[in-house]
Amino acid sequence: ATKIILDCDPGHDDAIALLLAHGSPEIDLVAVTTVMGNQTLDKVTRNALSVARVAGITGVPFAAGCARPLVREIETAPSIHGESGLDGPVLPEPTLELDPRHAVDLIIDTIMGNEPGTITLIPTGALTNIALAVRKEPRIVDRVKEIVLMGGGYNIGNWSATAEFNMVIDPEAAHIVFNETWPLTMVGIDLTHQALATPDVVASIAALGTGPARFVGELLDFFGETYKDQQGFDYPPVHDPCAVAFVIDRSVMTVRRAPLDVELTGTLTLGMTVADFRSPAPVDCTTQVAIDLDHAKFWALIVDALERIGDP
Ligand code: BDR
Ligand code: CA
Repeated sequence: ATKIILDCDPGHDDAIALLLAHGSPEIDLVAVTTVMGNQTLDKVTRNALSVARVAGITGVPFAAGCARPLVREIETAPSIHGESGLDGPVLPEPTLELDPRHAVDLIIDTIMGNEPGTITLIPTGALTNIALAVRKEPRIVDRVKEIVLMGGGYNIGNWSATAEFNMVIDPEAAHIVFNETWPLTMVGIDLTHQALATPDVVASIAALGTGPARFVGELLDFFGETYKDQQGFDYPPVHDPCAVAFVIDRSVMTVRRAPLDVELTGTLTLGMTVADFRSPAPVDCTTQVAIDLDHAKFWALIVDALERIGDP
């Protein structure tokens, strides 16, 4: 199984990413870290611990990270995720205790304390913690196996016309992470807008009949409503688990190698991820973007993980 650190801001789709990581036999979840984003750090951290209880996750360190972006003021997304950051289901009181370390230190300790090339980083929020970690301990660049992140897009934006939420709320952090030499896969909204929770998907999750499956159903109900009202979607795009799914099974999506960078100075394009598709890609290019999703395979992974989690 692949050892991963999930760095997240739950967040409806982050919560499902956490359930997928925990339930997949191909993944060994070694740490969970939180970062402000969908809501304030306190709220998303509490949400992560509540989801851990729903999923029956024990023995995994959870640590809180950055409460604001590197340079900019904090910007949250209550219009999509509600006042709690995880509106919809009743959130159980957490039973896990937070790790006393800062997320940045837990990330560094985990990468430096494991064999080189064995830890995969899966960021599904702003890249603030990852940027600080690489500035504090640059050796992690050569130590990680790879980074598979949810964020950005090569054609479209969602929080602005050109930029995606996780990138635009902390563009300086994204710029740092995209300009290191670690192998990096950008699972952007071009890909995740294909991961729609269609009625057949919702029905197959409901059919499991377990507590965690009901929890996911309630998340998707709320997320579906806000995505309909705010973004005009018929069904909600479940972004963050796509990054986890790629680590479980490479064949769940197609990818293309391309140099990537993040815009920091544009007035209309702040936080835009720019992919250079002129070919051939330079030999030293370590970045790639996700293109096409196998919808059936993706949702089968989620249903399978929920089935394995059962009723903890
Ligand atoms: C991303 O922004 C957040 O609201 C979601 O959790 C996801 O990580 C999608 O743009
Ligand atoms: Ca997220």
